[in-house]
Amino acid sequence: SAAEKGGYDWFMRKEIYEQPRAVADTLLGRYDENSRLVLDEIRISENELRSIDKIVIIACGTAFYAGMVAKYAIEHWTRIPCEVELASEFRYRDPIVGPTTLVVAISQSGETADTLMAIRHAQEQKARVLAVCNTNGSTIPREADAVIYTHAGPEIGVASTKGFLTQLVACYLLGLYLAQVRGTKFGDEIAATMAELQAMPAAITEVLEAIEPVLDLAGEFADAPSVLFLGRHVGYPVALEGALKLKELAYIHAEGFAAGELKHGPIALLEEALPVFAVVPPKGRDQLHAKVLSNLQEVRARGARTIVLAEHDDTDVVPYADVLIRLPRVSTLLQPLVATVPLQVFACELATRKGHDVDQPRNLAKSVTVE
Ligand code: G6P
Repeated sequence: SAAEKGGYDWFMRKEIYEQPRAVADTLLGRYDENSRLVLDEIRISENELRSIDKIVIIACGTAFYAGMVAKYAIEHWTRIPCEVELASEFRYRDPIVGPTTLVVAISQSGETADTLMAIRHAQEQKARVLAVCNTNGSTIPREADAVIYTHAGPEIGVASTKGFLTQLVACYLLGLYLAQVRGTKFGDEIAATMAELQAMPAAITEVLEAIEPVLDLAGEFADAPSVLFLGRHVGYPVALEGALKLKELAYIHAEGFAAGELKHGPIALLEEALPVFAVVPPKGRDQLHAKVLSNLQEVRARGARTIVLAEHDDTDVVPYADVLIRLPRVSTLLQPLVATVPLQVFACELATRKGHDVDQPRNLAKSVTVE
């Protein structure tokens, strides 16, 4: 009923708007007054955490993209080698895991069979398994050695939204906690990132308050046969997630690419009027920002239409953007928390305009309990 949906047309839209609250709830109680992380729920001793020499993240679908983002953050903060693998691939290739491997299984539902089978395989090899999960008491956290609950509240829409953002936050917390335990980052660096994380609910609210142009865009592109999404670094998994949402909800062909790969193939797809979304990283000390702009130039030169997500005061992007979607200023690693939101809204709105059932897309299930 409309009441259950809090006045929104879809659970998905309600859940998109719940994201500031959900992210705040993931952070709640997980740090002390000095911004030191307090993750008592990780029942793996600090000694054991110090002996880990490899992290393997396993997940499916949207949770897998959260894992891709997590790899960038965890490796940067902890210097522990981190792999991300689709759960359905993991156990069938004789993966190298053992007692000093930490396997992180990300699952909103906690019931995904592919992920469950993968953690059982990891446990047979004596790896420690930590679940990042939204559903209390579900199978995956029950079988794992430890769990970080995301506390997003029930997610009803089949396409994951607040589930994804809170998985990102939980993974950031895990990365910072490992850095704290292992001493790879100094306390003040961790505190600075924690302060930034605490500002994320407000940043996400800012994105939602300025969402009108994204709604108009969905009207404009409702008949597009195909949409491309480009990003680099953590913007790459955001691009993949933007494309997945469009496939799931609007049933149109969509692909996410690492922007640097454009020239190695996808550039052949570019043609007049093709919509191409691009996630532009913040202007930082590295060259990423400039690289994405040059990728955008390639796209524009072939007549495709660029929809550019960039920081609000980034004036360099203006010549490369047919449409600009402004994002709050956040550091590169955290940018997925704000950049994903317009892409969720775009897919939700486009599917609505096409008359599709956004909460129950055809052929999909909220949790897939068969391999
Ligand atoms: C299904 C859903 C996806 C979800 C995936 C993983 O395929 O349709 O939206 O991302 O499962 O679900 P999980 O509950 O393990 O995060």
